[in-house]
Amino acid sequence: MALEQIALRPEELPRKWYNVVPDIPGGLPPPKEPQDGESRMAALQRRLVGECLRQEASTDRWVDIPEGVRELYIHAGRPRPLYRARRLEERLHLRKVRIYYKREDLSPTGSHKVNTALPQAYYAAKEGKQTLVTETGAGQWGTALAYAARMMGLKSVVFWVRAVYDWKPERRTLMELYGAVVHASPSGETPFGRKLLAENPAHPGSLGIAVSEGLEFTDLGKDRVYCLGSVLNHVLLHQSIVGLEAIEQFKLIDDSPDLVVACLGGGSNFGGIALPFMGEVLQGRRRCEFLAAQSAAAPSLSKGEYRYDHGDTAGHTPLMMMYTLGHEATMVPIKADGLRYHAAAPIVSALRKQGYVGTVAYPADEVAVFEAAKTFLETEGWLIAGESAHAVRAGIDEALKFEAKGEEKCILINISGHGFLDIDAYRTKSPGPG
Ligand SMILES: Cc1ncc(COP(=O)(O)O)c(C=O)c1O
Repeated sequence: MALEQIALRPEELPRKWYNVVPDIPGGLPPPKEPQDGESRMAALQRRLVGECLRQEASTDRWVDIPEGVRELYIHAGRPRPLYRARRLEERLHLRKVRIYYKREDLSPTGSHKVNTALPQAYYAAKEGKQTLVTETGAGQWGTALAYAARMMGLKSVVFWVRAVYDWKPERRTLMELYGAVVHASPSGETPFGRKLLAENPAHPGSLGIAVSEGLEFTDLGKDRVYCLGSVLNHVLLHQSIVGLEAIEQFKLIDDSPDLVVACLGGGSNFGGIALPFMGEVLQGRRRCEFLAAQSAAAPSLSKGEYRYDHGDTAGHTPLMMMYTLGHEATMVPIKADGLRYHAAAPIVSALRKQGYVGTVAYPADEVAVFEAAKTFLETEGWLIAGESAHAVRAGIDEALKFEAKGEEKCILINISGHGFLDIDAYRTKSPGPG
């Protein structure tokens, strides 16, 4: 029987995360202070989980996963399976090209975000914090953090981009079931939120604004700590569990990807699956290419400038060297809101600059990506998130190009999330222009 599902046993879950930083040719440009205002580095020291900040600056190639975090991962269903997409291959009439997909949708809250939410909550609890504060765009990160906080017996507060908050009441219910207090952002809870609401009471918000509010809110209370769901080095470190598992799974079937495809908003999903493979490429032990699938609503890696910029709209974070559209950029709303962020993670940006990351950006009307998601549902049977639909679109397009050229190739796609709470996106027209 040809295997369609490649699984690892719980005891085979990796024991270390992989940090690509020591392997980046030329190194990673360090963060910088802006010229005006308080020290943003000092502010981060105050606001973030201590262990995460240490990991942020780490140049160790391997970082131990605490036993307590491994237990949480296993409880949340890790290791997650790798699937061979035989039915999709048949629909596309592929003879030369094999497609596999990794199942990050099979998490308690429906996305890869749990991979970093759990260690962040674990370290925060160890450091005596009581409340986890964060922002969320699509809602996946907020839900993951609310879940992780609940697992560790902590409280959580989520600032949610207002346009999406209004659009996804079911996801809000899930966050609240986990015990989260959820605010539509801009909110009346912070000075920055109040300023924006005074200018425009119907302000739709953005991820950068929600980050700014979350950071301010953290300062306003005791034992609060801010958790970020993407972009930063420690988040990509935690997400490396995805690619590390996939490497072991490919060994079991004696196959190996020539191309790894993932969608990219802030970059933690792409980094999670790609960087462990990339590390072996950088060390000269593997040949493989990498493709980041974006939305034309926020084409940071494809069209942005490589320069120092803030990670949030109000400029509370240090300046990071990254591909950016500018921290005050406005982006049209899309269904795949998790991809609507102005910049790409410094690590992914540095590797893009060095020529290791290819990019594609699909039109903001989202017709092409939801068509691909529908084909995926009709063949493989799984309902995926709109963000993941970008990766599936890119995987299908690349497979068809390889097939047309008669090239024998193996493609790995990361399915970053399920679409059960985003099903409306399959039914109604996208708000973004084409
Ligand atoms: C399902 C899903 N996939 C992908 C992404 C993008 O993640 P990242 O910011 O890590 O690139 C998100 C972000 O919210 C998401 O919810």
